Amino acid sequence: MRKQLQMSLALVLAGSAFVAAAQSNAPSQPTPGQASAATNAAVATPGPQPPVQAKVAMCIGCHGIPGYQATFPEVHKVPMIAGQNAKYIAAALTAYAKGDRKHPTMRGIALPLGEQDIAQISEYYATLAKVEPVAAAVEPPADVRKLLDKGACASCHGANFSKPIDGAYPKIAGQHADYLYVALKSYQIEGKSYVGRSNAVMAGQVKQFTHAELKTLSQYLASLPSELRTVPQSRFR
Ligand code: HEC
Ligand code: HEC
Repeated sequence: MRKQLQMSLALVLAGSAFVAAAQSNAPSQPTPGQASAATNAAVATPGPQPPVQAKVAMCIGCHGIPGYQATFPEVHKVPMIAGQNAKYIAAALTAYAKGDRKHPTMRGIALPLGEQDIAQISEYYATLAKVEPVAAAVEPPADVRKLLDKGACASCHGANFSKPIDGAYPKIAGQHADYLYVALKSYQIEGKSYVGRSNAVMAGQVKQFTHAELKTLSQYLASLPSELRTVPQSRFR
């Protein structure tokens, strides 16, 4: 018991030494956002790990409320992440943290997370929804079939758009239509500070489509049976 106490005290001290070092190495005039992100990152990594519930507490206010609307860059529903592939959730969070995904709110949320936080949170959401594999997708109308074939969407997003060929690729069947549309358009955007996603694979895909076509694709994909869920949760468990 006593040994454990000493141990955790040592970890806390090591943690604060790390923070102090990070701060003294900081550039002379960091913006407030940068300063707090650096501090949080330093605390998150070396200290004793809090339980995953504490780490997802702040996600629940958006991802745990069915139908919750975001307003940037346009009004759309917050994506469902429960039941998504763990590797993809981790890849997305890392992309926000690195700035490959520019969405400002999610950047602010992902930036302070350490590698271990991301791994734990991703595993948590991947297994939060207990869902059966979905039934086969219905054959789409001819115009949609043409778009899906042109983009070879199923060759990566897999059977029923729910079995991607790589764990780092997303399940997209049944995701909110308005979110899918925003996400698809974001891969077309280059060189903006607060909107856009720089992913080489999807950038190549969406180039060939108009906004109207991306909307058609989004509406079809959203109508399919889904393994994705919004799981309502109380913050106080
Ligand atoms: C203030 C609301 C809000 C909070 C809080 C929030 N998110 Fe998000 N999240 C969003 C929105 C809006 C998007 C869509 C961003 C975009 O367009 O790229 C998103 C996107 C994501 C994505 C990408 C989903 C996909 O299909 O690509 C993941 C993963 C994610 N959030 C995880 C989290 C986690 C984990 C937390 C808590 C640590 C969290 N979010 C907290 C609003 C929020
Ligand atoms: C060569 C493989 C490949 C092909 C083909 C492909 N995708 Fe993707 N898709 C990906 C990868 C990888 C990602 C994750 C990119 C990232 O990390 O932002 C992705 C992301 C997406 C997303 C974002 C999902 C989310 O939750 O934010 C949507 C929507 C999407 N793809 C739809 C499509 C559609 C529609 C097509 C066909 C027109 C298509 N994809 C073709 C590999 C592919």
